[in-house]
Amino acid sequence: MLVDSFGRVATDLRVSLTDRCNLRCSYCMPPEGLDWLPKPDLLTADEIVRLVTIGVRDLGVTEVRYTGGEPLLRRELVDIVARTSGLGAEVSLTTNGIGLARLAVPLAEAGLHRVNVSLDTIDRETFKKLAHRDRLADVLDGLAAADAAGLRPVKVNAVLMRDVNEHEAADLLRYCLDRGYQLRFIEQMPLDAQHGWRRENMITADEILGLLGAAFKLEDADPKERGSAPAELFLVDGGPATVGVIGSVTRPFCGACDRVRLTADGQIRNCLFATEESDLRRAMRDGASDADLAARWTASIARKKPGHGIDNPEFLQPSRPMSAIGG
Ligand code: GTP
Ligand code: 5AD
Ligand code: SF4
Repeated sequence: MLVDSFGRVATDLRVSLTDRCNLRCSYCMPPEGLDWLPKPDLLTADEIVRLVTIGVRDLGVTEVRYTGGEPLLRRELVDIVARTSGLGAEVSLTTNGIGLARLAVPLAEAGLHRVNVSLDTIDRETFKKLAHRDRLADVLDGLAAADAAGLRPVKVNAVLMRDVNEHEAADLLRYCLDRGYQLRFIEQMPLDAQHGWRRENMITADEILGLLGAAFKLEDADPKERGSAPAELFLVDGGPATVGVIGSVTRPFCGACDRVRLTADGQIRNCLFATEESDLRRAMRDGASDADLAARWTASIARKKPGHGIDNPEFLQPSRPMSAIGG
């Protein structure tokens, strides 16, 4: 088991398959992109499958989520899903949706259970402004294809940015309600490559609830159902549909965190905001046994800090941006 010194158990493994992306959402990366990881540094599909297998078979991982960058850009994605979906853990994907129209059925056939799709606006002009690419139609097609392929519940992630898309929150919710997608609004975290995050610019969970409350009746959904999930859920207009708010900054859920991350270049990170990594790629390529790898991984979790510490005066943003850590 992956237990830390505060008694939390990591059962949710988030695996980044690439740091590349075909969008440039401004809360994540600059329009010109970033210096991508060199190809030889990326884990191969075999290495990923080996580590996921160790996680599920030997270390108590029960949920595996493939992320990026944009995981649909990884050519071996369907193969990796097919080789890990039978291990006994639930396998899901967090994606920007571009390419899902083509891949939803092959992914479902490979054993993928569900998808979360990032969608911050349903307005083409706002999308272009926010993501620096004219790809809204591809994302919406991808969402519909995921739903049709049975990758349910389809969840949608939206980051609200001041003066960019905040005024569209209610429209976005209506769009998702009409199609049976579960929308979750996310507080922006200091994980952008540009280091441009300012707390005072962040749209807080309280603000999000205010914006939605003007258009919908919201009531707390049963908190017992939340478990360690980051989203607080609210019944919309009496339910049964819900909307989620992920208040990572103002309502942190670090105390119940059950996550561990594997970066595309094979580093275990015990937290999104970790200041250290454990290099399983090097160990693997130097001939480590499965037991050695499991021991390194366990030791890394033991060092997990109690929380992200964004409110500490000495808080330092991690040197890697979200796209290189895994969403
Ligand atoms: P499910 O609810 O099981 O579908 O998963 P999820 O909500 O964890 O998955 P998703 O990848 O869609 O992540 C949604 C958002 O949660 C991310 O965009 C982050 O803002 C936030 N998040 C994910 N992991 C962490 C984490 O380890 N720490 C914090 N603080 N926030 C996280
Ligand atoms: N803060 C919060 N969420 C973010 N995401 C990307 N960057 C940030 C950030 N700085 C979200 C994306 C996607 C998920 C992987 O993470 O919108 O849904
Ligand atoms: Fe790409 Fe996701 Fe970053 Fe947007 S948030 S640029 S979709 S990695």
